[in-house]
Parts: sequence; structure tokens; C-alpha cells
Amino acid sequence: MKLVRLTPQHNLSDFDCGDNDLNEFLKDNALLFTEQRIANTFVLEDGDNIVAYFCLLNDKVSQEESSNNKWKKLKKEFPEGKQFSSYPAIKIGRFAVSLKYKGQNYGTDLMVMLKDMLYRSTNYSAFRYITVDAYLSAIGFYEKNDFKILSPQTIDKDTRLMFFDMMELA
Ligand SMILES: CC(C)(COP(=O)(O)OP(=O)(O)OC[C@H]1O[C@@H](n2cnc3c(N)ncnc32)[C@H](O)[C@@H]1OP(=O)(O)O)[C@@H](O)C(=O)NCCC(=O)NCCS
Repeated sequence: MKLVRLTPQHNLSDFDCGDNDLNEFLKDNALLFTEQRIANTFVLEDGDNIVAYFCLLNDKVSQEESSNNKWKKLKKEFPEGKQFSSYPAIKIGRFAVSLKYKGQNYGTDLMVMLKDMLYRSTNYSAFRYITVDAYLSAIGFYEKNDFKILSPQTIDKDTRLMFFDMMELA
């Protein structure tokens, strides 16, 4: 298994995670998003098969989007005088495992790789959190991977804003 950046050479025709939007994004938009510098896509390869993919972009965790209780707790992590109304983050824009590989821990393994890759990428811009607008059906998966719910109610009817604190890896 190898985690690599998506290239035009990847054969994506067989990829099916069971969700049309996520399938279409990978096949029709992922490379365009990279070209336009709005999101970078990474794929987990098993030989010629695509096991899973995710894409990343910059984000922030802000008071505006948090429930009062969550924000109070989150702010306590920072020393006096370093408490701001938002903190830098990286967003998981998309995350999907192929149906062929679903339920075999590949999603979890990929999340560990993603966190490790980001933990080691300290050369340029700093960020404290990983965020994701989790599908309601995937909240359990993110909770198992130590993400917590941030937003008080549903942002829209299909997703919930969740976050992972990179300090958990320190
Ligand atoms: C959600 C998804 C990424 C999970 O990947 P996966 O490889 O099947 O998950 P894993 O096998 O690593 O599961 C790890 C744990 O999370 C649990 N889990 C997985 N999917 C879950 C879900 N949708 N809800 C609740 N728990 C879930 C598993 O039961 C497992 O728990 P266990 O360790 O106690 O057995 C994958 O099913 C998928 O791509 N779904 C369609 C697209 C999607 O919903 N993406 C998320 C967009 S926000």
C-alpha cells in the first residue's frame, strides 16, 4: 500500500465508495481542484487498485462555528493572552474508502497515515486542528478516530463539523 498524490496517470474508472458525490469528485474534479490550488488529493494505492482517497485544504476552527461549551473547553488549551477567536486548521475536504476495501480497517489506517503526514509537515504554515464536515452516517467512524463534534447543531441536514487536535499526537 502506498499513499501518493493523485496524478493524471491514475486509473479511477473502477473506484466506487458507494457515494456518487465522492466518486464524481475523484473522477471529475480532483485534478482540477489541485490545478486551481483549492484542494490537494491523495490516493492509497494497492498495486493498480485505488483503495481510498482524501483531499486537503486550509481551514480554521472558529468561535462562530462552535457551541459555547466546546469553545470554552477548546480555549482552555491555550495560555492566557494566546486566546483568539479562531485557530488555524487543515480540512479533510473528502474522505472515502472503496466498497471493495470497506470495513477492513483501511479507513482507520489511512487516517493514521494522514495525521502522521500532517504532523511531520511543519516546514511552512502552522495549524493546530484537522477539521471535517462529517456525513451524519460517518460520525461514528470519525469518533473512533478521535475527532470530536464542534458545531452545536447540524450545519446543514447532511453533515456535522468535527475536529481533531494535533496536540494529541505530541
Ligand atoms: C466511512 C468510511 C470512510 C469508513 O472507512 P472503513 O475503512 O470502512 O472504516 P474502518 O474499517 O477503518 O472502521 C473503523 C471503525 O469505525 C467504525 N465505522 C466505520 N464506518 C462507520 C460508520 N459509518 N459509522 C459508525 N462507525 C463506523 C467501524 O465499525 C470500525 O469500528 P471497530 O474498530 O470498532 O470495528 C467508509 O465506509 C466510506 O468511505 N464510506 C462512504 C463515504 C463516506 O461516508 N465518507 C466520509 C465522508 S465525511
